[in-house]
Amino acid sequence: MDKIGFIGMGNMGSAMMRGLLKKADVTDMLFTVAHEEHAKEIFKETGVMYCDSNAELASKCKYIVLAVKPVVYPKVLKNIQDIVKRDNVIISLAPGVSIDQLKEKLGIDRRIVRAMPNTPALVGEGMTGIAYDDKEFTDDEKALIGEIFGAFGRCVKVDESLIPAVVCASGSSPAYAYMFIEALADSVVKCGMPRKMAYEFCAQSLLGAAKMVLETGEHPGKLKDDVCSPGGTTIAGVSALEENGFRKAVFAATQKCYDKCR
Ligand SMILES: NC(=O)c1ccc[n+]([C@@H]2O[C@H](COP(=O)([O-])OP(=O)(O)OC[C@H]3O[C@@H](n4cnc5c(N)ncnc54)[C@H](OP(=O)(O)O)[C@@H]3O)[C@@H](O)[C@H]2O)c1
Repeated sequence: MDKIGFIGMGNMGSAMMRGLLKKADVTDMLFTVAHEEHAKEIFKETGVMYCDSNAELASKCKYIVLAVKPVVYPKVLKNIQDIVKRDNVIISLAPGVSIDQLKEKLGIDRRIVRAMPNTPALVGEGMTGIAYDDKEFTDDEKALIGEIFGAFGRCVKVDESLIPAVVCASGSSPAYAYMFIEALADSVVKCGMPRKMAYEFCAQSLLGAAKMVLETGEHPGKLKDDVCSPGGTTIAGVSALEENGFRKAVFAATQKCYDKCR
């Protein structure tokens, strides 16, 4: 297998590497981080070797995942720009950095994949949107790119113009879901449920509802209607959410997120 190198082992780099370890061998991967102590810890825990520099990693790996914060990109791109060749597949995770911008820095004929994963990747339930130019990659390369992201959840190829929408739909939205779980739990604690129990009930009901949407293929509105008995408890709650601007708040959050991303 061609080697996969991770530059950065934070939330995303480590979720991706740990997901891949279920399928690939420790010798198929390499990584770098900013602090050597962190590198030693990860090596001890996973058995995956680290490199002393980003340049060394780039010279040893065909697939290079840029899993550093966007602010570190200029430094990291400088480290690897004289090493990467057309044969390399560069995978970028930064929300606001386009394929063209990366080609400008690394060379117009370099091959770039832009990906937008999310933190539920840490528990194997990630959602990733990936964008790349079909013509630039072989079938084997496309299959491996799919495997890299499929190792920790779902992965869908999208047009690059949709990446800001992917950021809204799955990159940032876990934060809103946590807020909803926290608020719902607070509200049922007010009804007398112990807090720990409230988190379990609320989180599992969101997980179950999400699975219902994905596995039944039913429209979410129909699934909502199915819970609402005429004159019952649920429609009373739904009505209160509508009166208090639930949908309006969600639309506003997405618009802010989209504007910021662009
Ligand atoms: N977190 C999310 O929900 C999320 C979602 C979608 C996309 N992304 C994108 O994914 C990328 C990574 O985000 P993250 O949340 O994983 O970041 P993070 O947790 O802050 O981790 C950043 C990693 O980069 C390493 N690093 C810093 N400077 C470096 C350098 N010069 N060379 C090599 N490694 C270096 C750090 O090393 P040390 O560990 O030694 O400090 C750390 O392991 C970002 O572009 C982010 O926008 C994140």
